[in-house]
This record gives sequence, C-alpha cells and structure tokens, in this order.
Amino acid sequence: MTTMRAVRAHARGGAEQLQLEDVPKPEPQAGEALIRVHAAGITPTELEWSETWVDRQGHDRTPTIPSHEVSGVVEELGPGVTHVVAGEEVYGLVPFDHDGAAADYVAVRARDLAPKPVTLDHSRTAALPLSALTAWQAFTEQAHVHPGNHVLVHGGAGGVGAFAVQIAKALGARVTATASAGDIEYVRSLGADVVIDYKATPFEEVVSDVDVVLDPIGGRTAEASLGVLNDGGSLISLAGPPAVTLPEGRDLSAEFFIVEPERSQLIELARLVDDGRLRVEVAEVFPLEDAAAAYEFGRTARRRGKVVVQVERS
Ligand SMILES: NC(=O)c1ccc[n+]([C@@H]2O[C@H](COP(=O)([O-])OP(=O)(O)OC[C@H]3O[C@@H](n4cnc5c(N)ncnc54)[C@H](OP(=O)(O)O)[C@@H]3O)[C@@H](O)[C@H]2O)c1
Repeated sequence: MTTMRAVRAHARGGAEQLQLEDVPKPEPQAGEALIRVHAAGITPTELEWSETWVDRQGHDRTPTIPSHEVSGVVEELGPGVTHVVAGEEVYGLVPFDHDGAAADYVAVRARDLAPKPVTLDHSRTAALPLSALTAWQAFTEQAHVHPGNHVLVHGGAGGVGAFAVQIAKALGARVTATASAGDIEYVRSLGADVVIDYKATPFEEVVSDVDVVLDPIGGRTAEASLGVLNDGGSLISLAGPPAVTLPEGRDLSAEFFIVEPERSQLIELARLVDDGRLRVEVAEVFPLEDAAAAYEFGRTARRRGKVVVQVERS
C-alpha cells in the first residue's frame, strides 16, 4: 500500500486533536483528480463545523483531514475526467464533508478545480478559494451587486472581508467597510471608499443608503445592519442564519448561505488576480507538521488575511 503524510483528527475537538500520520494515499475515483498538494488554506472555525465530523447522512467520518482549500499539481486522473490534465497547476475548494488538503495528496472532483492564477505562488493561491468564492457568491448569486450600488462590508480586514471589499469594487460598487483602527489604512488600500473604526463608532450612526450588507460577524452587527439598508436591500450573513426580525412595512431580505465549489467562478477570480485587481493577503505560512499550531494561530492571533499550511516547497 502506498502511503502519504496527512494531518488527521480521530475525535471531535480543536487543534489539540490534530496529528501528523502516515495514511493510505487516496485513489482518484470516477470524475476525480488526485492533486499533489503544495499548499492548503485553513479556516480556523472549520473544526467547529459538523461537516468536519459527520457526512451528509450524519455518520461519523473520523479520522478526518482538515483544510479545504488546495493549490497543487494534478498527479493522476480517475475515469471520465475532462476538466484538468495531469501535470496542470490547479486550485480549488474541497467540499467540507470530504477529507481536506492537509496532506501530501487529496482527491477532488475535477469539475471543481480551475487553473491556478499564474501570478501567485501556491501558498498565496491556497488563501483564495473559500474566502474569495464566498464574497463572489454573496455579491453575484445571493445579492446582485450592480455598478453604483452601495455595499457595506463588515470586518473588511478579515479573511472574507478583504476579498469582499475588492470584489464589490470590481463589480462597480461604492464600498463602506468596518474594521479595527489599526486596519483602516489597509482596508482603504483594498479599495474601500470609507472605513469605519467599529470599536470607536457604531456604524449605524454614520452609514445609511446601503443596498447590500455582507456580515461575517452576526449578533448585534446583523440586527443594526437592517437599519442602514435601503428598501429592496439585502443583508447577507455568513456566520450563521441571521437572528433578526425584519421590520414590517420595509422591503428587506436577510439571507444565510454556505459557499460552494464552482470552477467557473474560480476561473473568474484567477483572472481578477492576474489582472492585478484582486490582492491576496497571507497572514502566516506553517509547515504541514505544524498544522495544529496553524489552527491555534488562526483562532487566537491578531492577523490580516488567511493562514496557510505549506505541504511541498514550490
Ligand atoms: N457561510 C459561508 O459560506 C462562510 C464562508 C467563509 C467564512 N464564513 C464565516 O465567516 C466568519 C468570518 O470568517 P473570516 O475568515 O473572514 O474571519 P476572520 O479572518 O477572523 O475575520 C473577521 C474580521 O472581522 C472583524 N471583526 C470582529 N468583530 C467585528 C465587529 N463587531 N464589527 C466589524 N468587524 C469585526 C475582525 O477584526 P478584528 O480582529 O480587528 O476585531 C476580523 O478582521 C466566520 O464565522 C466564518 O466561519 C462563512
């Protein structure tokens, strides 16, 4: 049996459950490509998601491999694959109820993969799929952001927020963002027209006339966001279904969605990156053997951008 290195958790929990092990190398099934992983993006909260621990039927799927963003090279193809070829540099989002990319290899549905941006190395590319697809789907599928719309992005310096600011601008919107004081210049540099220090000023006192709010925070932030929306406006929540009461007599919507892999959108995002219109910020890169530290860092450290696990030097 051929083996590979993988980071796995055998029991539900946090970063303390993650250990580096030798495990069987996956074999690509019909429609799958086997990717030699160069880098994997992590989402610190993914260890709290039920999909990490149980499959769609609710069956325990431990031991589980985390890190669902991958950048690497196609090693081998399963039967019937048409979207990628062996040797191609690709990136993508692995579905959350599948084993992730904190390993030497991951088998991924080939139709979910796209050519990697040519201007980024693998570790920066691995920071792209989940957060950028989330922002893209929020503004093109959940809400339909048009040129001239006013978009409010909460947490504009965060993993999703930094892409959301840039994508809303690329779609022609006027962008207001919230961030901590130390991140205001950074979020402006991403293209935000106005940035509010959320700890110093309640945003609802200074923002109005908003068409779309993207909210990765929830709670009070979601509730107060309704008050700044125009009629016809949308609140898009990411941290969970918004616990808000829509005011009577107002035409507002409040939605929650979960990002999905989508090759055509990854192609679009890679184009924005290669055109210099989408910047990727990486907070820290950890080697595979320190994946547990990467999750702990992601959860606790003050940081800008994503945390990435480097599997193969590239
Ligand atoms: N539904 C989906 O498909 C989906 C996809 C991706 C992510 N998510 C979820 O979205 C959430 C955020 O993810 P992320 O990767 O962007 O996290 P992140 O990188 O930790 O960013 C969160 C940002 O929010 C800021 N922040 C915290 N409290 C705030 C407040 N009250 N007002 C304004 N900004 C505030 C933080 O700034 P400071 O550190 O300066 O306070 C930080 O910059 C997580 O819950 C994640 O699970 C959901």
